[in-house]
Amino acid sequence: MLSIQGLNTHYGASHILQGVDLELPRGRIAAVLGRNGVGKTTTVKTIMGLVQPSAGVVALEGSSITAWAPHRVARAGVAYVPEGRLIFPDLTVVENIRIAERTPAKAWPLARLLELFPSLSERQRHRGSQLSGGEQQMLAIARALISDPKVLLLDEPSQGLAPLVVRELARVIRLLRDAGVTILLIEQNMKLAEVVADELHIMAKGRIVYSADPQRFRAEEDQVRSRYLTV
Ligand SMILES: Nc1ncnc2c1ncn2[C@@H]1O[C@H](COP(=O)(O)OP(=O)(O)O)[C@@H](O)[C@H]1O
Ligand SMILES: [Mg+2]
Repeated sequence: MLSIQGLNTHYGASHILQGVDLELPRGRIAAVLGRNGVGKTTTVKTIMGLVQPSAGVVALEGSSITAWAPHRVARAGVAYVPEGRLIFPDLTVVENIRIAERTPAKAWPLARLLELFPSLSERQRHRGSQLSGGEQQMLAIARALISDPKVLLLDEPSQGLAPLVVRELARVIRLLRDAGVTILLIEQNMKLAEVVADELHIMAKGRIVYSADPQRFRAEEDQVRSRYLTV
C-alpha cells in the first residue's frame, strides 16, 4: 500500500533520515519503535510532504507521491495524526472534525465517527481545550478519518495517556485496521505496539535496523529492548 525506499532527509546540515526502507502492506498495522530523536517523526513528516527528502521514494499503491505538497498527499489518501494531537482548543468537537472534511465523507462520515468514539459523541459541543488527553487523541483520529484515508499515520498516539485509555486506543486502532485502513503506528510505548501491530520495526539513527512479526519480536524482546530501545 505504502512503500518507502531509500528515504533520506536533512535538516540543514544534519543528515536525519539515512536510507529508510519500509513496506506497509494493505490492511495491516506496522509499528515503528525507536529511541527519542532517531527520526520517527521526520519519517512521517517526509511521507506527508511536510519535509522534503533529499533522496528516496515514497509510493502509494505503486505511484510515487514523493515530495508532493501535503494537501495532495492527503487527497491521495494518506492521513496524519501528529505527535501532540494539535486539536484546535477554541473549536468544539464537531467543528474540529468538520474543519478537516474537504468533500462529504463516504467511509467515515461524522455519524460513524461519533459511533466509533462514544466519549466524543457525549461531548459534541465541548471545546477542544475542555477534553481530556484521551478524548483529544480520539478527536485527532476522528479528524483524520473524515478524509476517508487509505493509510493512517499515527505519531505516538499513546503519549501521556493512562493505561486504561491506551487500551481503548488499541481497540480503536485494531477496529480501524479491520475496517480496511492501513496503519503506520509510531510509538515509544512498546506494549501498545506489541498488542496491535502485525509487524514491528525499529528505527535507529535514521534507518530501519530491525523488523519482525509479533511472535519473533516477543521472543527477541529482551535483546531488542536493550540493544535499541533503552537509553
Ligand atoms: N525542524 C527541525 N530542525 C532541525 N532539526 C530537527 C528538526 N526536527 C527534528 N530535528 C532533529 O532531527 C532528529 C530526529 O527528530 P525526530 O524525527 O523528531 O525524532 P523522533 O520522532 O524519533 O523522536 C533529532 O535529532 C531532532 O533534534
Ligand atoms: Mg517524534
